[in-house]
Amino acid sequence: MDKVKIGIVGSRFQADCIAASVKAMPEEMEVVAVASPSKGNAESFAKRHGIPNAYSDYREMLRDKAVEMISITAPNRLHAQITIDAARAGKHVVCEKPLCVTLDEADAMIDACKKAGVLLLYAEELFFAPKYVKAKQMADEGAFGRVHLVKQGEKHSGPHSDWFWDVDQSGGGALMDLGCHGIAFCWWFLGKQKVKSVYAQLSNQAHHDRTKGDDEAIAILEFENGAIGMVENSWNRPGGMDDSIEVFGDKGQTYADMLMGNALPTYSEVGFGYAVEKAASTKGWTYPVFEEHWNYGFPQEMRHFARCVRGKETPISDGETGRVVMEILHAAYASAGLAKKVSLPFRPKGIAKPVDLWLKPELAAAIR
Ligand SMILES: NC(=O)c1ccc[n+]([C@@H]2O[C@H](COP(=O)([O-])OP(=O)(O)OC[C@H]3O[C@@H](n4cnc5c(N)ncnc54)[C@H](O)[C@@H]3O)[C@@H](O)[C@H]2O)c1
Repeated sequence: MDKVKIGIVGSRFQADCIAASVKAMPEEMEVVAVASPSKGNAESFAKRHGIPNAYSDYREMLRDKAVEMISITAPNRLHAQITIDAARAGKHVVCEKPLCVTLDEADAMIDACKKAGVLLLYAEELFFAPKYVKAKQMADEGAFGRVHLVKQGEKHSGPHSDWFWDVDQSGGGALMDLGCHGIAFCWWFLGKQKVKSVYAQLSNQAHHDRTKGDDEAIAILEFENGAIGMVENSWNRPGGMDDSIEVFGDKGQTYADMLMGNALPTYSEVGFGYAVEKAASTKGWTYPVFEEHWNYGFPQEMRHFARCVRGKETPISDGETGRVVMEILHAAYASAGLAKKVSLPFRPKGIAKPVDLWLKPELAAAIR
C-alpha cells in the first residue's frame, strides 16, 4: 500500500525530529507539507528536508488533499485547537506530548476525532525506545517476578524555547514538560492499570527569574495492584539530557540509561560538533550518542502510527493515553499544592492549566 502522507505543524526542534524519523522509514511514510507561522520558516524547513509544500497557516495545510495525517509540533496551548481543526478537515492526528493543557481540551480532542472518524495518536516515544521495550518484554515474561517499583527520570538544563517557561503557553514546568513521559512510561510498563493516588513534591530551585512553574519535580504514583511508579524531573541538570529507568520486582531488577548507556565515553580538549541534546559543550569528558532518534524510539513510533492509519496495527498510544497522563498531571500539581496525596479519579472543572493547582492551592482545596 502507498506511503502515509504527513503534514507537520511547526518547524523547529520536534519538527526536525519528526521529519528525520519519517525519512528513516521511507517505505511506510513521507512528509509532504509543513506549516509554520514565522515568515520564511516553513520554506527553509521544507528546503532542508526536501518537503514539496510549505504553508504559513496550518489551516491552509489542512485543505491540502495530499495530507492524510498531521504531526503537531507546536507549543502545548495550541494542541487542542489544531487537533480539532484537523479532525474537522478529515486528517488523522499525531499530537506531541503533553496532549494539551486542560482536561476539557483532552475530552474535546478525543470527541472531535471520534466524530470525524480519524485517529488521535499520542506521541509518547518511550513506548518505542528499544531499551525500554526490552525491559518491558522481560518484565512481562516474569523475569523480575512481581514488579513493585518502576522509576523513570528525565532531566536536563532547561528548555530551548521561551514558551516552555511561560506557564500560560506550556501549562506547567518540568513536571508538565518531562513528567508526562515518566507518568506515561510507568502506566504503560505496569500494564495500563488504574492509578489510585498521586503524591508530588514540586519546587522552583533556580529559575524564579524565568518561570512561575516548577523546575524540580518528584511524583509518586500508586497503582491499583499496589505497585509504585516514581517520576523524577529536572530543568537544573547541566551536562546534557539524562533519560533513564529502574525496574524492581521480588525476583530481579533492571536498569537502563537511554543516552549515556548508548554513548561513547569521550575526552576531547578541542571539542567537536554534537554530543547529545542540551549538552552545552563538547570539550573535556562527554558522552556523544549515536542513532539518537532510534534510541528514543521516534522512527519506530511514527512507523507504528503510519501502520495504524493503514489499519495494519492498533494504536498503543492514543488520545485516551494522553488523557490519562493529563489527569495524573492535574492530580500531581494539586498534590503539591495541598501537600498531600490526591486520589483518582480526579476531574477538576474550570482549571485553566495544571500548574494553577500548585500555585493557587485554594483551587485544589475547592475540588471535591
Ligand atoms: N516527544 C518529545 O520528546 C518532545 C521533544 C521536544 C518537544 N516535544 C513537544 O513538541 C511540541 C513542540 O516543541 P518544540 O521543542 O519543537 O518547540 P519549538 O519552540 O522548538 O518549536 C515550536 C514550533 O511551533 C511553531 N508554532 C508556533 N505557533 C504556531 C502556530 N500557530 N501554528 C503552527 N506552528 C506554530 C513555531 O513556529 C515553532 O516552529 C511541544 O508540545 C513539546 O512539548 C516533544
